[in-house]
Amino acid sequence: MEGITLYPLRNIHREIFGKGVDKYFTPFLTAVHTHHFKNREKKDILPNKNTAFENYGDEIVPQIMTGCAEDFLWAAAEIKKLGYNEVNLNLGCPAPTVVNRRKGAGLLTDTDYLEEMLEKIFEVVPGAGDYDGVNNNPYPYVSLKTRLGFSSPDEAERLMEIYAKFPIKELIIHARVREDYYSGVPRLDGFEKALKVYREMGGRAAVCYNGNIDSVEDYKRICDALGMSYGSDAFNRTEAMCSYVTSDVYDGMDALDNDEHINSFTAGKSFSSVMIGRGLLSNPALIRELRGGAPLSASELHLYLNRLYDAYSEYIQEDRNVIFKMLEHWAFLHVHFENCERQLKAVRKARSKGEYFAAVNNIFSSCEFV
Ligand SMILES: Cc1cc2nc3c(=O)[nH]c(=O)nc-3n(C[C@H](O)[C@H](O)[C@H](O)COP(=O)(O)O)c2cc1C
Repeated sequence: MEGITLYPLRNIHREIFGKGVDKYFTPFLTAVHTHHFKNREKKDILPNKNTAFENYGDEIVPQIMTGCAEDFLWAAAEIKKLGYNEVNLNLGCPAPTVVNRRKGAGLLTDTDYLEEMLEKIFEVVPGAGDYDGVNNNPYPYVSLKTRLGFSSPDEAERLMEIYAKFPIKELIIHARVREDYYSGVPRLDGFEKALKVYREMGGRAAVCYNGNIDSVEDYKRICDALGMSYGSDAFNRTEAMCSYVTSDVYDGMDALDNDEHINSFTAGKSFSSVMIGRGLLSNPALIRELRGGAPLSASELHLYLNRLYDAYSEYIQEDRNVIFKMLEHWAFLHVHFENCERQLKAVRKARSKGEYFAAVNNIFSSCEFV
């Protein structure tokens, strides 16, 4: 999420909420013909800025926006030089300025061109599973983040046929089409069909579900709708499926029924992981909750906000601009304070550090936290 999902947020989220998130994806870096990153974009992926990550090369995935294979490969190689083992190609951004330049979701409209672009890329990048390859290759692994289509989920069939041809590291499917932008309910039927086609066509990548997981209830409902079994072992099972991609992060692997996992995986029923966007901005403890842990507490949220403020103060110069960043977070976080419109308004109106902290402290001392 461009603007607020930069390294200050990643570092503070990791420091406060620990290792629950397996991979953080950066906002996209634009790969242009002149082969230069914007300073702001490059800064976001510098290893010395991502201080909370010992193993940043595997835990952070820079995303690239481009409609050109050569530019993608240039950017991917630059990112690999910084120590990253995976990059992600954006095939989902719906913004007209992006789409009209045949980038992001714009690439979904010309599938022959997309196929050619991926052919050029996968001629040289290491295939998923080629564990030695990534060490000796100037390029990192490549994952894709796609939508189900541009106008209709029926387009997914051809897209999945294309994706299945390439040894991608992970296929993230945002269960919407471009014309949905971010609204409405995710197209779970479309996702299920797409996954089925992808597997039938021989696609073997780990598949990641994305779209509107804002609570544990959403997660359960989506698993149910997609025919994923869960019960008392719901969270182990989720971990099991995540472990397909990131086996070293989890404890308690012995308890997993691996055969069952592989069977449902190859039968095309399961996804391996979930990507969460807005849900994590609203509830930064959501991943912990999904894993059966404690819900977010008021003191934890207060600490998170204070630490974020400090991190943005190092990132941007003026207090006013730091406050604007914080207000972007408050646009998601206000849901924790019901019937507090007056106190929230004071936060939104704050333009100095003193006003901002007074307003925030007032919310935590006088509003009910939900
Ligand atoms: C403000 C904003 C910025 C986003 N920026 C990116 C981006 O840079 N790259 C990307 O792949 N998706 C981006 N997304 C999309 C999210 O990653 C995600 O696909 C989408 O919000 C749906 O998931 P959610 O319901 O969990 O939020 C952005 C979404 C929003 C709302």
